[in-house]
Amino acid sequence: MRISIVGGGYVGLVSATCFADLGHSVILIDIDEDKVDAINCGKPPIYEKCLMELLSSHVGRDLRATSDYGSLVSSDLTLICVGTPPLPDGSADLSIIESASALIGCALKEKETYHVVAVKSTVPPGTTQNLVMPTVLKHSGKNASKIGFVMNPEFLREGLAVQDFMNPDRIVIGSSNELASDTVESAYRGIDAPIVRTGLIAAEMIKYASNAFLATKISFSNEIGNVCKKLGIDVYEVMKGVGLDHRINPYFLNAGLGFGGSCFPKDVSALIHLAERMNVNPVLLRSVIEVNEQQPMKIVEILLKRVEDIKDKRIAVLGLAFKNDTDDVRESRSVLVIMALVSRGALVAAYDPKANVSMRVILPEIEYCESASQALTDADAVLVLTEWSEFGDLDKEFDLMRSRVIIDGRRVLSCKDAEGICW
Ligand SMILES: NC(=O)c1ccc[n+]([C@@H]2O[C@H](COP(=O)([O-])OP(=O)(O)OC[C@H]3O[C@@H](n4cnc5c(N)ncnc54)[C@H](O)[C@@H]3O)[C@@H](O)[C@H]2O)c1
Repeated sequence: MRISIVGGGYVGLVSATCFADLGHSVILIDIDEDKVDAINCGKPPIYEKCLMELLSSHVGRDLRATSDYGSLVSSDLTLICVGTPPLPDGSADLSIIESASALIGCALKEKETYHVVAVKSTVPPGTTQNLVMPTVLKHSGKNASKIGFVMNPEFLREGLAVQDFMNPDRIVIGSSNELASDTVESAYRGIDAPIVRTGLIAAEMIKYASNAFLATKISFSNEIGNVCKKLGIDVYEVMKGVGLDHRINPYFLNAGLGFGGSCFPKDVSALIHLAERMNVNPVLLRSVIEVNEQQPMKIVEILLKRVEDIKDKRIAVLGLAFKNDTDDVRESRSVLVIMALVSRGALVAAYDPKANVSMRVILPEIEYCESASQALTDADAVLVLTEWSEFGDLDKEFDLMRSRVIIDGRRVLSCKDAEGICW
């Protein structure tokens, strides 16, 4: 099948590469010319395990990037993968979805045969039907018999994106149009996963509800963890016992600094906004966000108990990415922690295996180190903020510190004298 993908970020680039690997011919459209050039040279603009190797084996053969929307005319299926960032009121900003839909519509004017447009971006329920569909149809001058619409949410996790795309727990295909749904389903041929066919709006809600539930599990564990800390017990021991209940399962029960990234915070906020618009009071979801906003400050409180005045003290920060195995710092808890340290006059020496460059754009004023050892040298304390596995191997490196105050926000360290945020 010939597939065009609009938006070449974490979701778009991974999807494009994986669809090429499934045997399709893929055109990736992005408005960022630098990104397009990098992709065409086989260099992914993001860090994601296995992506570089997979991209180089397809680019120039069955995968090509361009900024020209006109080239989607030669495809059978277009997947929209542009961003849906949050607006200041917490609702989803759909302006990129709208402009991409208009450009897709204009390009499809020239198309003679049937075409399918599928939304992969996370969008509030109703968006595909009430915004994407009318915008594409208006700009294409066609009716719904010539273009089919599908909502096909993406569930990949950054850091494991290629693996997740190729081995999903399910593939959700939402549409009232059978031909359009069949087209999307056949794009996934070769992937062994249950197919869940729903209506358009239900598919959009499945994605929001999934993210909201996962975020709830994390905030729940953090709240239990905060109580465990006061009781002097280990929340990880507790959650091991809890998670063995098959009705609960052991995943996403890791207490720590809370969730960040480009999805959970914005999607839970957008769902809260949507519920309020529908006159539903989202009590639980508001609490999920509240716990998550308080959690990063817990590690700062522990630090201030151990090192009373951090002004002019060197505080090493290990981990900047919102999670391990990615360079993504969007909504990273590290940003909040570092800002709290800087506002108290601390001298922050930060290190992340992949995210120094992306964090420097947001926080240029701190010191960035080439290694954990460099950050730890002469440090008065260290905070571990991302669960990179290499931090678990740190041992003698802590001897480089001026004072051995080690605080772990992610339960990744193996040294005996680390204090945990919830354990
Ligand atoms: N990142 C994730 O882990 C993840 C997982 C599942 C779903 N999602 C959802 O997928 C969507 C995309 O997320 P992302 O993290 O890949 O975003 P991203 O910001 O990494 O990528 C978006 C890309 O779209 C491009 N773009 C912007 N305007 C454009 C336009 N008009 N035409 C073509 N390209 C345009 C940008 O240059 C960028 O490369 C969001 O709705 C997100 O919520 C993300």
